[in-house]
Amino acid sequence: MLRQLNFEIFRYDPNRPERAPFMQPFTLAETSGMTLFTALNRIRETMDPTLMFDFVCRSSVCGSCAMIVNGINRMACRTLTSGLSPNIRLLPLPFFKLLGDLTVDTHTWFRGLDERLRAWIHGCDQVTPGSREAPMDNKDAFKVYNAERCIECGCCVSGCATMANGKGFLGAAGLNRMARFMMDPRDTRKTSDYLEIVGDDENVFACFETMMCEDNCPLDLPMDLHMEYVRERVAAAKLESGNDLRRPMAHQKK
Ligand code: SF4
Ligand code: FES
Repeated sequence: MLRQLNFEIFRYDPNRPERAPFMQPFTLAETSGMTLFTALNRIRETMDPTLMFDFVCRSSVCGSCAMIVNGINRMACRTLTSGLSPNIRLLPLPFFKLLGDLTVDTHTWFRGLDERLRAWIHGCDQVTPGSREAPMDNKDAFKVYNAERCIECGCCVSGCATMANGKGFLGAAGLNRMARFMMDPRDTRKTSDYLEIVGDDENVFACFETMMCEDNCPLDLPMDLHMEYVRERVAAAKLESGNDLRRPMAHQKK
């Protein structure tokens, strides 16, 4: 049955700091197959053209539409209103810089992550135009593909307790990306090469393991497997290098 939807939407424009943030109510008639993307567009088109939110693909590919929907991190374009209560409360993702209303800047953080991890294949042979692609074992290709599916929506990052506490922590998205390159047989980096970047206590081993990242990932990426994979390899490399793993974690220090 189609209902009346009662929205409460976070409003704040950082360019107008004199106006305090507030929750604005909007009422909308639900239509068949309505997603939050459709609903927000309708609100913007018919009620308030100044409402800020991000969408590009509308099909779970670009990762730009993540927000907090009734307390849960979700992508608005793949959230049907029929699956929600008629009272819908929308907030921007925390952790990232707020650009206005429901729009946050995830790009800067993910760009920094790529630079920090040097997230590109290292040491592969020079590619010459016309040369044939090197085939990859299906099992390896599937593992890499699974980690590569991350669309940088930021849901795992903004829902993570360790991210909120530790400045240097890579977050699940970062560890997932690291796993992606470690699993790729074309990347000639050894695990020890990563120690300099992520080998301190505030990184791979800083996770509180609440697994909110996995709960929050709209694509159900297997975060536990990928983080475990990275931790095991980094621990082995640390032990090999004579590093003492028994030191307390950063968040356990007095
Ligand atoms: Fe989003 Fe999942 Fe990627 Fe995290 S791992 S950024 S939740 S797609
Ligand atoms: Fe691209 Fe939602 S608009 S993932």
